[in-house]
Amino acid sequence: MAQTHEDHREVDPVTGHDTTGHDWGGIKELNTPFPKIALVFLLLAFAYSVVAWILLPAWPTGRSHTRGLLGLDQGQEALAGYRELEAGRKAWMSRFDKPDFAALSADHALLAEAMPAAARLFQDNCAACHGSNAQGGPGFPALNSGHWLWGGDPATVAETITVGINSADPNTRVSQMPSFDWMAIADRQTVAEYVASLPSGKADQSSAGAKLFADNCASCHGEGGKGGLQTGAPTLTDQSFIYGQDVETELTTLAKGRQGQMPTWAARLSPEEINLLALYVSRLPETAAGADGRSAAAVP
Ligand code: HEC
Ligand code: HEC
Repeated sequence: MAQTHEDHREVDPVTGHDTTGHDWGGIKELNTPFPKIALVFLLLAFAYSVVAWILLPAWPTGRSHTRGLLGLDQGQEALAGYRELEAGRKAWMSRFDKPDFAALSADHALLAEAMPAAARLFQDNCAACHGSNAQGGPGFPALNSGHWLWGGDPATVAETITVGINSADPNTRVSQMPSFDWMAIADRQTVAEYVASLPSGKADQSSAGAKLFADNCASCHGEGGKGGLQTGAPTLTDQSFIYGQDVETELTTLAKGRQGQMPTWAARLSPEEINLLALYVSRLPETAAGADGRSAAAVP
């Protein structure tokens, strides 16, 4: 082979290199050596890899891998970082174990740490029903309006979250808007119109509707629909409502009754998490910026 090569030896006059003797339609390939610089880098890279194999975790060994002399392990580092975070969280989280809500609300440093975590808990567990700003939605009450079905102090909210409303929990809070299908349609219409006028603050308190309301509804919804009895029946005088306070929706409510369900969280959240959320929720009416509470979830 070398012999034949010698035989056909041909030197390129421009570069002074031999050609390989291959000829592609008049184009000849130069027999240039592999560039030294590339060879040097290749050797360096190989040398580095040998060093890396020895120092760093590298080769798989079935279920594990070689650890390397430096003992570096990013998995362990990540785990250590996570544990540190957990420990930091535990330090304040444990204060929600048996909460003294008055003391907790007064501790601003604690609130600054805890409320963002509570906002995340709310987004993960509650926002699907109560809205991302706790503004509520059809069938789900607002939690930032300051009007409560059961009460807005943290201990009461914690109880609501723990047992739920009309839930599967044996200690559930129970409430029901009864059906008034026995009431004459004309009377239902009259009382519905009165209730629909309540949020305006200009309802006629001497009307037939007002009388029907006092006789049939005030025992649960409070005098003049003001609510505040904390037995599950909402106020009917504010702008936020669960199902709707137009006459048509009210007639449906009166015909069929309502029984909203709030799940129990006793099995899904720890007592600390429930107390943390309770404090967060009870503060929503104050922390919500503006009536629509647009930034409620973000405000510590
Ligand atoms: C599956 C939907 C759903 C989810 C999820 C949910 N809720 Fe509720 N929640 C309801 C409904 C419906 C009601 C009103 C029940 C009724 O009509 O009486 C309610 C009522 C409440 C009340 C009572 C409000 C008052 O005025 O007294 C509180 C407090 C509450 N929810 C907090 C939470 C928190 C905190 C979470 C997250 C851990 C949560 N809810 C998750 C559906 C839900
Ligand atoms: C036994 C107590 C009780 C009585 C009596 C009662 N309600 Fe209710 N009402 C409730 C409860 C509890 C709810 C909330 C139901 C829910 O959240 O699922 C409710 C809800 C409503 C709502 C829906 C409010 C909203 O935010 O969408 C309207 C409207 C209403 N009631 C009107 C009336 C009228 C009018 C009467 C009298 C004819 C009446 N209720 C009598 C307990 C009662």
